[in-house]
Amino acid sequence: MSETLIKTFASKLIAWYAVSGRPGLPWQGNRDPYAVWVSEIMLQQTQVATVLERYPRFMKRFPTVKKLAAAQVDEVLAEWAGLGYYSRARNLHACAKQIMTEFAGKFPSDPVLLEQLKGIGRSTAGAIAAFAFHERAPILDANVKRILARLFAIEGAMQDKAVNDRLWELTTKLLPSKPVDMPVYTQALMDFGATWCTSRKPVCLSSERKCPFTKACQANLSGQALLFPQKTIKTKSPEFDCNMLLIRSGNSILLQKRPDKAIWSGLWSLPESPWTPREPGVKNADLKPVELLAGALPEEGLVLLKKVSKGIKKTAEIKHVFTHRRLWMHIWQGAAEQEIAFANMDLKWVPLGQLGRYGLPQPIKVLLQGLNLVRGGDLKS
Ligand code: ADE
Repeated sequence: MSETLIKTFASKLIAWYAVSGRPGLPWQGNRDPYAVWVSEIMLQQTQVATVLERYPRFMKRFPTVKKLAAAQVDEVLAEWAGLGYYSRARNLHACAKQIMTEFAGKFPSDPVLLEQLKGIGRSTAGAIAAFAFHERAPILDANVKRILARLFAIEGAMQDKAVNDRLWELTTKLLPSKPVDMPVYTQALMDFGATWCTSRKPVCLSSERKCPFTKACQANLSGQALLFPQKTIKTKSPEFDCNMLLIRSGNSILLQKRPDKAIWSGLWSLPESPWTPREPGVKNADLKPVELLAGALPEEGLVLLKKVSKGIKKTAEIKHVFTHRRLWMHIWQGAAEQEIAFANMDLKWVPLGQLGRYGLPQPIKVLLQGLNLVRGGDLKS
């Protein structure tokens, strides 16, 4: 049974795509590896609808790998603002530089070489090689894992090494034999996972559409599509508190560049105190703002903090959910009499009208808009 499925899978999937796929997306049919690479990275954690809006803008701003490599990382981050997962933008920039220096400006076609580049994992390497170079390179993203786990009733958690190895073996076996079919096949696989073999409402459970694999899919045959892929038990992500300083002087606010290796690294945010684990029932109410915010600014900033601390007030509390943690941001607002100059280059007074030039974390943008400090148009979203 499995052997027949392995032999016929690619052609059936390509036939499915002709009728039910999502053709006409702007990054499809393009063999420029730069264009393919940018679209794949942007699509990794961002909805197709958002990429449809942002991808053409990014390509207009950085039309070639050479232009991207020559840009400042801050410019790339500012263009990426609002798309989240900013390490993707930093990696894009670093990878563009690698392409220029190590590959004379030309993307390699071998997925093994592509995978060695910054920010390109094995599956993305496969997608780029397949779309741009018609290489018979497999992909294995979360959607493909789900499809395969159902078709072959793969037991065990997807992160498990043995399970993962088995899935790579299967996705390699399923490839079409003709290299020329690789782009349409790869796109079909992505579309099938995103629109038909979805995690909560696969079409095999609805009466309107008929999945081409109903008779071969082992999960469907045993009526257990929703039980695959098998889930690992999730623990709740830890919660933290953090106090943030919103100091205004005239029409400027004080921003601090996020350190390397931290969340939002490279973006400009409000100065913040070290995060503390949130313990139920414990309140910071007894502490004065100066104490709460002590770690938010380097030594020289404490002078400023003391100056503003009399009028300082807590004006907002925002909960932000990251992939692996949840953060409560307590916003303390105050006014400085003058823009004290800082020796530390990571602290800057930024005129409100110029905030659009800075890559800001999304919740900080929303906050500044919510407090009416900026209008929507002042910040690129
Ligand atoms: N997700 C990742 N790559 C994609 C692509 N090429 N089309 C649609 N969704 C995707």
